[in-house]
Amino acid sequence: MFVLVVAAAGYIARGGADAKPLPGTPLRDLGAQRGIEVGTAVRSDVLKRNRAYRELVAAQFSSVTPENEMKWAAIEPSRGDFDFDPADEIVEQARDAGQKVRGHTLVWHAQLPGWVKDLGPQELRAAMHEHIRRVIGHYDEDVGIWDVVNEPITDRGGLRESVFERRLGPGFIADAFRTAHAADPDAKLYLNEIGAEGINAKSNRLYEIVRDLKAEGVPIDGVGFQVHANLKGLPPDFVENMRRFRGLGLDVAITEADVALKLPPSDADLQAQARIYAEIVRSCLAVECRSLTFWGFTDGRSWISETQAGRGAATLLDEHLRPKPAFFAVQRALGG
Ligand code: XIL
Repeated sequence: MFVLVVAAAGYIARGGADAKPLPGTPLRDLGAQRGIEVGTAVRSDVLKRNRAYRELVAAQFSSVTPENEMKWAAIEPSRGDFDFDPADEIVEQARDAGQKVRGHTLVWHAQLPGWVKDLGPQELRAAMHEHIRRVIGHYDEDVGIWDVVNEPITDRGGLRESVFERRLGPGFIADAFRTAHAADPDAKLYLNEIGAEGINAKSNRLYEIVRDLKAEGVPIDGVGFQVHANLKGLPPDFVENMRRFRGLGLDVAITEADVALKLPPSDADLQAQARIYAEIVRSCLAVECRSLTFWGFTDGRSWISETQAGRGAATLLDEHLRPKPAFFAVQRALGG
């Protein structure tokens, strides 16, 4: 009895019970059989507090992406003042679990600290170089893949207005990649984009940009398609679109997949969501993608419900870490 009470108290102190192992072959093993990494976005605070969450991350995934911890505002809140601790915790867990880490993200218009926005062109260029060098340098042993530039294009196919675009001009993209490559010549460097799944104005511009980067010898290795989807499903030309990027000699990855639902979802919604998740997996495999990362794996910890009113239930597991139809659909699509 005494032993039982102590054990129970221990679980509570650690902030969670054991994870109920999920049925079937872990996604990371299914992915390995298909030659891809299967990843998830993770949060350092939850990893630390919630043992069930931590165990599932380790058991199911072969790659992790820090959801916010490596973003500029988090990691360099004031100039030259770096806070690596939360991201370090994720990286250490990943090392223990034999996982790859996708570094996310070095140059992005959002989650950018105020001080960056106040800099003039010369100072901004110097700060961007320093930021890239310091962050990549800190992680060069543990992070082999970086989203160097995130979301630089608008839906209409223009270069997004950002402090980088305004002060440095369109060349900021090439500059960021060159700086990243110099900081870690072995790292795989990606341009990551949202809403560029179909063949449309945005993905056409993306294509032109990366084609020109390649032609100029800029060190870019891959393109990340975020795939924040909903019940409208994937554009029918998603695979064809990814193929043209492969045709440029680039790797492709799905970097932030989720499928948002209106709350509360019906059973039919959950089934439809499962079909879209399966389609995401099949699309990735069809183009020999390098990795497939979900933007979180439990509805209890997902940015959709946190940032979009009335929407949520976007991930593979429910808020109690129980598998949804989407989880089984992903297993099956990976060959499980
Ligand atoms: C999101 C995080 O999930 C949220 O927690 C945060 O509040 C905002 O950013 N595209 C990206 C991700 O590249 O970094 C974003 O992550 C989601 C959209």
